[in-house]
Amino acid sequence: MATTISPTCFICIPMIILSSLYPITTLCATVLEDLKNLHKPQDFNTTIFNNCLKNPSLRYCNSSPMIDLDDIFKHTIVASHLCNESNNPNCVESFPKIDLRNRPNIASLYLSFTFFWKYCPLSILSIDFSNNSVKGSFPNDVLYCTQIQSLDLSLNEFSGEIPIENFSPLTNLTFLNLSYNCFSESEVPDSQFFKKFNSSSFLHSGALIDHKKFTIKAIILLVGFPILVILMVIFLAWLCFQRPDFLPRIFHSRFKFTPAILKAATYGFSKENLVGKSDIVHIYKGVLRDGTEVKIEMYWDDISRDSYHKFVEECKILSELDHKNLVKFLGWCKGRKFRAIITEWTKDENVEMWLLREAPSWNHRVKVLMGVVECMLYLHDEWPEVDYDLKTSSVLLSDNHEPLISRFQVGDRNNIRKKICKFGVFLLEMILNKSIKEEFDGNDAGFLSYMRTLHHAELQHMIDERMDLNETTLHQVKQALSLGLMCIDQSNNEHPSLAQIFNIVSKAYKANLVKGHKRVQFR
Ligand SMILES: *[C@@H]1O[C@H](CO)[C@@H](O)[C@H](O)[C@H]1NC(C)=O
Ligand SMILES: *[C@@H]1O[C@H](CO)[C@@H](O)[C@H](O)[C@H]1NC(C)=O
Ligand SMILES: *[C@@H]1O[C@H](CO)[C@@H](O)[C@H](O)[C@H]1NC(C)=O
Ligand SMILES: *[C@@H]1O[C@H](CO)[C@@H](O)[C@H](O)[C@H]1NC(C)=O
Ligand SMILES: *[C@@H]1O[C@H](CO)[C@@H](O)[C@H](O)[C@H]1NC(C)=O
Ligand SMILES: *[C@@H]1O[C@H](CO)[C@@H](O)[C@H](O)[C@H]1NC(C)=O
Repeated sequence: MATTISPTCFICIPMIILSSLYPITTLCATVLEDLKNLHKPQDFNTTIFNNCLKNPSLRYCNSSPMIDLDDIFKHTIVASHLCNESNNPNCVESFPKIDLRNRPNIASLYLSFTFFWKYCPLSILSIDFSNNSVKGSFPNDVLYCTQIQSLDLSLNEFSGEIPIENFSPLTNLTFLNLSYNCFSESEVPDSQFFKKFNSSSFLHSGALIDHKKFTIKAIILLVGFPILVILMVIFLAWLCFQRPDFLPRIFHSRFKFTPAILKAATYGFSKENLVGKSDIVHIYKGVLRDGTEVKIEMYWDDISRDSYHKFVEECKILSELDHKNLVKFLGWCKGRKFRAIITEWTKDENVEMWLLREAPSWNHRVKVLMGVVECMLYLHDEWPEVDYDLKTSSVLLSDNHEPLISRFQVGDRNNIRKKICKFGVFLLEMILNKSIKEEFDGNDAGFLSYMRTLHHAELQHMIDERMDLNETTLHQVKQALSLGLMCIDQSNNEHPSLAQIFNIVSKAYKANLVKGHKRVQFR
């Protein structure tokens, strides 16, 4: 039995063997079970031998060094299963097509049967593995079937290189579809073989058949990437030099502002933000990126490089000052034609206006004096090189009536005498009638020399009566008056030290605190 074979049909051999040895129902079992359970018949070598005599081109006939009968037998099992899977009309007579399109569950299984592909039946002309989402590298085994005319591997997830050179034995291939895979990007060579196929064979496969496109892509990559890098570097440099406030803190100095930052903070130096103006100074109100309101003083003086360095050194010192009675210095900036200093934004109210409008009580005045003296002491102890202005018009008031010294600069170290004299004037202005100072209209020297001519008794008549003093507070005011006079006295070299001033003022301050406290308690 099973020995009459048509020499042109290789598949008949295994089919005949199988169908004759086992009932047809065994083929319904899965291919894996069949591979495990079926065993080759005793005379299988004879059958193969006879077949090869009749058709030496059969692939297993040329296998060297020795024919592996087990593999060939397994091959026949898989072949019969595949033939049936492909709904080939007559598997015994012909096996023209492997059709595993839309069979994701079994496609990879069949691809894994190397022993089948090694002896790929010569009758197969078309292989379709499309739309199975098969993963892995290109199924090289399929290319053992060199006689095929059509190969469709589209709509899978094959990756890695397409083995271009392995295609050349497939001389009869007229249809190829590798579209929709994940092959690594490469150019399909412009060879005689691949000229037969156009881009629709390689859609979204990774491979590029359009040489122009490939070249353009390569150029874009080669030229575009460096350009992109350069642009990014330029952008980062721009950020660093123009808008460091967009960078994290660690990448820029907190105190160094750029013209671009100031421009953004003031809406392009808009008129609405300009709050004061003279020939050389423009004062703007601005809002920084973090929401801080700032005062920007821009000086339109073209200073030399040396002066600029000095300016920066001074700004660095000022940026380290930190006292509750000192307007916060936030930083500096150098533009092409200007330099600017940036400080915290404060209310407009100054001590002069406050005295005039609100006629504050002695209590409140002492609190302001206390703040000023504390700040003087802080600067004297820690920053003796910082000079400041103590005019009632330049000392501002915060919301809770804390004085804020708003004009300060790096100056002469050894002018403590001048500072104390200034404090004296400030103190006298805090105590005396406004009209007296007004007569001198900002002429401090005149005011000073006039004061020095007055006697104590005369001065007592000039005490601001709006303070509504009682016996105790009048005593304190008189003490303060004497202190003020001592501070402005330049007839000898003696002047009260800051520590003495601090003692007197803080005593009055504390006495008022206690009194105020008691009053509240008794109420
Ligand atoms: C071949 O497949 C069909 C379904 O397509 C099935 O009914 C038939 O039993 C199979 N034949 C063999 C021999 O397995
Ligand atoms: C086939 O194998 C058997 C034993 O396995 C051996 O006796 C016989 O000679 C072989 N026939 C051919 C044609 O090789
Ligand atoms: C691919 O298979 C899916 C189901 O697995 C089906 O919905 C879809 O229509 C198929 N696509 C093609 C092009 O055959
Ligand atoms: C291509 O087809 C021709 C004619 O059918 C055949 O002679 C030749 O062997 C085939 N080539 C391959 C590689 O199978
Ligand atoms: C590609 O070639 C096929 C015939 O092989 C043709 O039908 C199709 O229009 C071509 N596509 C392009 C984009 O040239
Ligand atoms: C290859 O398959 C894709 C997806 O099914 C299809 O769009 C494309 O037209 C096919 N290419 C050819 C040459 O048939």
